[in-house]
Amino acid sequence: MNAGIIGLGRCIPNRVVTNADLEKMMDTSDEWIRTRTGIEERRIASDEHNSSHLAFEAAKNAIANAGISADQIGLILVATVTPDRPFPSIACMIQDQLGAHNAAAMDLSAACAGFMYGLVTAKQFIESNTYDYVLVVGVEKLSKITNWEDRNTAVLFGDGACAAVMGKVSENRGILSFELGADGSGGKHLFQNDAGHIEMNGREVFKFAVRQMGESALNVIEKAGYNKEDVDFLIPHQANIRIMESARQRLGLPEEKMSTAIKKYGNTSSASIGNALIEELEAGKIHDGDLLVLVGFGGGLTWGAVAMRWGK
Ligand code: ACO
Repeated sequence: MNAGIIGLGRCIPNRVVTNADLEKMMDTSDEWIRTRTGIEERRIASDEHNSSHLAFEAAKNAIANAGISADQIGLILVATVTPDRPFPSIACMIQDQLGAHNAAAMDLSAACAGFMYGLVTAKQFIESNTYDYVLVVGVEKLSKITNWEDRNTAVLFGDGACAAVMGKVSENRGILSFELGADGSGGKHLFQNDAGHIEMNGREVFKFAVRQMGESALNVIEKAGYNKEDVDFLIPHQANIRIMESARQRLGLPEEKMSTAIKKYGNTSSASIGNALIEELEAGKIHDGDLLVLVGFGGGLTWGAVAMRWGK
């Protein structure tokens, strides 16, 4: 028996900020942003909508999509680096709003690998028969910790939330293998500084990400007992198209077999992988029985990957 995703939902803020909008705010250009990052536009949440609001909407949609009721959920895990406040956790806030009265609830912090950490943690509780259903949310309001005067980082990020209800799925579906990792010595390359802003050594993060994404993807394929030729679709963390392309090329996949949701949403950190998965499902690019690889990396430094056979 495997644990797998049985319902998905997301919440994408309405406000679109294009590269042309950013050109008016700082010394940058649409051409630079597109060619260096692959980003064309991103969504920014309104002042009155905090991370908990985005998380609640995404979670509500995922629970409806799974066809369960909120009180059947045993655990809520919210991956975020932009909680409304350190406590109470977003997980506790949405537990109450959803009416998930039987659920334990906690936030987890693994930056852009947070959704992967959430999925893998949920898998343990489901496969040990501890809980029937675990709700995993990835949510960020990165706009509130972005230094809008720093063009090196301000052009990269967006806001949003995704949610997955995890439960038992039939044999040969769900999460087949995983890898999680961390290297705290790299924390200095990507962190929230004392002013509360994202600070990043882009080149160091780039080098780490190129190496780690490819390696982790290949590792989970092997652990699942498959070859890279068996992979149907790659969902990499949507951080930079050039990093994503290098992972795709290491797997030998054609362009159309990798999500490039980054174009429309930028880097939404914990929300990026789940949001990209939903984007590609809605576009009809992922089918029942497909072998998927989801892989992410983030501040910490952290990384995580799963090989997953899509379907219930
Ligand atoms: N517009 C125009 N020019 C810019 C901009 C901008 N927005 N940003 C930087 N530049 C300039 C730099 O100042 C530099 O100019 P110089 O040569 O005169 O000094 C030039 O562009 C090149 O800068 P580089 O930093 O070398 O550009 P690079 O090709 O490395 O791309 C980038 C920068 C996009 C940040 C890249 O390094 C990258 O994607 N790194 C990884 C980022 C990432 O994945 N972060 C994950 C964070 S998610 C999380 O965990 C929260």
